[in-house]
Amino acid sequence: SLRRGISATPSAHLHHRGYSSESAPERKVAVLGAAGGIGQPLALLMKLNPLVSKLALYDIAGTPGVAADVSHVNTRSEVAGYVGEEQLGQALEGCDIVIIPAGVPRKPGMTRDDLFNINAGIVKTLCTAIAKYCPHALVNMISNPVNSTVPIAAEVFKKAGTYNEKKLFGVTTLDVVRAKTFYAGKAKVPVGGVDVPVVGGHAGITILPLFSQATPKANNLSDDDIIALTKRTQDGGTEVVEAKAGKGSATLSMAYAGAVFADACLKGLNGVQDVVECSFVQSSITELPFFASKVRLGKNGVEEVLGLGHLSDYEKQGLESLKPELKSSIEKGIKFANQS
Ligand code: NAD
Ligand code: LMR
Repeated sequence: SLRRGISATPSAHLHHRGYSSESAPERKVAVLGAAGGIGQPLALLMKLNPLVSKLALYDIAGTPGVAADVSHVNTRSEVAGYVGEEQLGQALEGCDIVIIPAGVPRKPGMTRDDLFNINAGIVKTLCTAIAKYCPHALVNMISNPVNSTVPIAAEVFKKAGTYNEKKLFGVTTLDVVRAKTFYAGKAKVPVGGVDVPVVGGHAGITILPLFSQATPKANNLSDDDIIALTKRTQDGGTEVVEAKAGKGSATLSMAYAGAVFADACLKGLNGVQDVVECSFVQSSITELPFFASKVRLGKNGVEEVLGLGHLSDYEKQGLESLKPELKSSIEKGIKFANQS
């Protein structure tokens, strides 16, 4: 710009580089599984994010069409499609963030763990390539079972010598999105201003919403209301799987949640202060090696894993009940990565 052109000193020049889409730093984001139910709307939402300058869409099939389609949207980022494993390296090169919604979704009657046999191998392959082509990227893991795929990714990166615990995230934002929606509906407060932390993991009872910390405070909710809200949040994924009746699981709300989380990661990378989201990360706030809680995001990924805060007796019980399942899902992931 003209103002930038007439800046007298380097610092004045930097000063003018404010936080607008034109001057935001270059950021490359890849979506792996971009032709899928989540991948397509997520690709669109990332194309709408002015913080993205390059958008790489990778899948084993279908990405040229998705990329051609999305690329016509008149926003900042340059879009490219990559198809097949021989193009995976190109898709990943130079990435700041890699979002992974690759893998099979649930059908009615299945648990997320029933997806392990197929998705564990997919995640392992993709993470091996990430270690090779963009070892410094933030990884946003969406593929289920998240409680196991995140530990798998960590083990793959450790073996490759690239593991950085600050850069690996299990995406649990959809649990937060649901908790906020359900709470606002029950408490009859405007949803836009609602915040609810969700901790633990991302499957059944390992999903622990902390409604005692929800804001704004609602005085009209009974203990039974809180129990019902908790169960609905824990079963939110199953609610969608059953409604879709064999045609997959949440895709649109997940794409929204994935876009919210990636945007928070981008803001953190760009130095925006006080960016906090819940995520399943390496953690020492409980005895489990990975745990979802509020995380402060910064220039290197995780800046700080925040503690659980004060829990109600009901939440304390929920926390103790979820630990055995979460522990065994984590161990299953670690074992898979080290034996195969
Ligand atoms: P989908 O079947 O519609 O799409 C998955 C895509 O992954 C397909 O396009 C497929 O070609 C692609 N794929 C398969 N193997 C691949 C590989 N090796 N490399 C790259 N791409 C590959 O499924 P979906 O509905 O988009 O769900 C994807 C995953 O996300 C599932 O595991 C689902 O359980 C999970 N999910 C997680 C959350 C969450 O909250 N974390 C929410 C919803 C869904
Ligand atoms: C969800 O929470 O919607 C996802 O984990 C998909 C699923 O299988 O429920």
